[in-house]
Amino acid sequence: KKLSYEEAIVRAGDTLHRFPLMKIRGIPLMEHIAQNWSSIWAFRPDPSDLLISTYPKAGTTWTQEIVDLLLNNGDPDVSKRAPIPVRIPFLEIFSPPPIPSGLDLLKDMDPPRVIKTHLPIQLVPEGFWENKCKVIYVARNAKDNLVSYYHFDRMNQTQPEPGPWDGYIRKFMKGDLGWGSWYDHVKGYWKERERRNILYLFYEDMKENPRQEIIRIMKYLDLSLSDDIIDRIVQLTSFKAMKDNPMANYSFMPKPVFDQSISPFMRKGEVGDWANHFSPEQAKVFDEDYTRQMEGVDIPFRSNI
Ligand code: A3P
Repeated sequence: KKLSYEEAIVRAGDTLHRFPLMKIRGIPLMEHIAQNWSSIWAFRPDPSDLLISTYPKAGTTWTQEIVDLLLNNGDPDVSKRAPIPVRIPFLEIFSPPPIPSGLDLLKDMDPPRVIKTHLPIQLVPEGFWENKCKVIYVARNAKDNLVSYYHFDRMNQTQPEPGPWDGYIRKFMKGDLGWGSWYDHVKGYWKERERRNILYLFYEDMKENPRQEIIRIMKYLDLSLSDDIIDRIVQLTSFKAMKDNPMANYSFMPKPVFDQSISPFMRKGEVGDWANHFSPEQAKVFDEDYTRQMEGVDIPFRSNI
């Protein structure tokens, strides 16, 4: 009998620990990803496959849930059929066996598939561009993204220790975290969004007007759902609803991977939580560096200063 996703993680047991990062083309990635890089890079999507791309902690899971509901006519039972990484595999993830890799899960699915990635644009397998796959990119303002990543690294027992808060800010500014520099990530997709038909969304817009952003995604996917169904998707993808949804809140991830007693996956889901973390001095240093790193870039981030 094939192990379920959850059973496979339990079976991996003691082989799970905080894995170091290893660079691929200058980008720090989790060790298992780097070791399997050639098979990830060789992945060939179908033209009908859809990619959801983000820097970690920018609102990936939220967007995955919205897309899954849109594609299933707002049917909550369909969107609760399996844990989110099984419904929408994580392209580059590799873990110790017998945990299935993203590629293993994708092999067992027929297109059109929805695929999640955190890869910066230059590391996205070229088949996505050759096949003109649709790509939804979600960006979140830097300081909130950093805060969310910090708490995630505290609870995710397979990523490097975040260390003290002040040092974590510096690692973020230098791009020394998993999947590299936030600055390069958001800029890379922004520059290519028109040429490659990427739908570029912002976490802050999704918070402010979820209905409007859900409709934008619906149109990008060439779908047309009734107002009632859209309203239901707004409701089913609220922070509260997703925090209570065991197929979205990562409660299926055993403690040796996500220790949610340290910090829950569905932590706060707010804009501006950075103000509860940065001292005025830390914010000043961060903002000066931000201005330098984002010079000449016109990405309309809000609440980023
Ligand atoms: P916080 O840590 O700020 O709470 P990702 O899915 O990319 O890992 O991002 C996780 C972040 O998105 C977390 O941010 C999480 O709470 C937030 N999030 C998840 N679902 C959400 C929703 N429905 N509405 C708002 N924020 C959500």
